[in-house]
Amino acid sequence: MLQIDVVILAAGMGKRMHSPLPKVLHPLAGKSILSHVLDAARTLSPAKICVIYGYRGELVRQMIGNDSDLTWVEQAQQLGTGHAVKQALPYLGNKGATLVLFGDVPLVKHDTLKALVEKSSEDNLVLLTVELDNPTGYGRIVRDPVTNCIQAIVEEKDTSQSQKKIREINTGIMVLPNMYLENWLDKLSNANAQSEYYLTDIIAMAVNDGIRIETSSPASDWEVSGVNDKIQLSVLERVHQQDIANKLMEQGVMLADPARFDVRGQLVCGNNVEIDINCVFEGNVRLGDNVKISANCILRNVVIADGAIVHPFSMLEDAEVGKNCRVGPYARVRPGTQLDDAVHVGNFVEIKNSRIASESKINHLSYIGDTEMGKRVNIGAGTITCNYDGAFKYRTVIEDNVFIGSDSQLIAPVTVARGSTIGAGSTITRDTPEGQLTLSRNKQISIAGWKRPEKNKD
Ligand code: UD1
Ligand code: CA
Repeated sequence: MLQIDVVILAAGMGKRMHSPLPKVLHPLAGKSILSHVLDAARTLSPAKICVIYGYRGELVRQMIGNDSDLTWVEQAQQLGTGHAVKQALPYLGNKGATLVLFGDVPLVKHDTLKALVEKSSEDNLVLLTVELDNPTGYGRIVRDPVTNCIQAIVEEKDTSQSQKKIREINTGIMVLPNMYLENWLDKLSNANAQSEYYLTDIIAMAVNDGIRIETSSPASDWEVSGVNDKIQLSVLERVHQQDIANKLMEQGVMLADPARFDVRGQLVCGNNVEIDINCVFEGNVRLGDNVKISANCILRNVVIADGAIVHPFSMLEDAEVGKNCRVGPYARVRPGTQLDDAVHVGNFVEIKNSRIASESKINHLSYIGDTEMGKRVNIGAGTITCNYDGAFKYRTVIEDNVFIGSDSQLIAPVTVARGSTIGAGSTITRDTPEGQLTLSRNKQISIAGWKRPEKNKD
């Protein structure tokens, strides 16, 4: 098998982003543009991945992380794409081929790269090209009018009037034979309209050396679209989201509107899942069979079991939701929460770092934190577990079949024993006995003859 090295050009600053953040670090679907390119490169299991970095390079390295499969190569001055690839020469194999990718072209697919690499050998050169209705701005693929063989790539700024009409363009992605690369790169000159060392000039050199030039094309043009400004970034974001949505819909997921649906990570769905508008899925999210996610929910790293329904405007993070649970509307389920089967969590309820056993209900306006809750517990409106004394956090234990009256506070550490009932408005500071009614409440009094103050009316 042909050994493949990858060189990713990512040294440019991306002036048109108007941002202190280097272009390649801008997020698309929750991860940086460059990470998308790296992930695509990795699917080919290359021998080397060289990342050519320059503008704010330390930040780029820091944010991408020092993954051991990456070779970071600095290009201190951005003198052109040919100059950029030249910096990687010391790290490339003597034989085999080098796939050149752009750090700002995030959506290129594995299948496209695989097809390109499969066409390559130790002594040919393969270009990824597309035909565009409007080729303005791109390097044009110049072919011999008789043989149709590729002769050169001419950059937009160096094209003649007739070359401007060529619709086949260089996407920038290509596979180059390592044996010839050094020789060609050494011969590059910057005597052109932009005074840059163009990588594209090696095509004419290769033709001159009798090297076969082949082409391949992506399934969709958007795979090779680059990000130069925030408008293009937003366009690619939607294209990518639509692509994710299409795959889910093909599997049977019902999306109310794929244009109002965002996955920033990985979403895996079971059968017959319904997702309403404006939902955001971050990190790893798994939805079981027959799960319904209503409008305006945010789910980050959650697993939701079969038949559960999340009502509108709920936010769930680092949590597990059991079968047939009902969550929301307006619920906040925070990290470390585990809801067993058929638990109900209603509006304005916050749960953190707690396990709620099956069939328990916390339906209104409550805070449950650091709590172990049994089965079939009913938590009245406005109940609060007071888990924090300003310095330390303590656990609350609420055993099976407990009923907590509304507006109660449970001062942790405290255990409410099995079958206990807590009277509404109680402040519970000590463990309660099984099966009894416990309440802490001032006796109700009425004052006869008391007069409500009134303002003087003159
Ligand atoms: C390049 C191609 C052009 C092609 C187009 C596709 C060349 C000379 N031209 O043009 O044929 O149609 O891409 O989008 O190759 N970079 C570096 N170091 C440098 C210069 C560039 O790392 O010194 C990086 C940039 O950050 C960017 C990529 O290489 O990610 C492309 O550079 P850019 O200047 O945008 O090339 P184009 O003029 O768009
Ligand atoms: Ca560009």
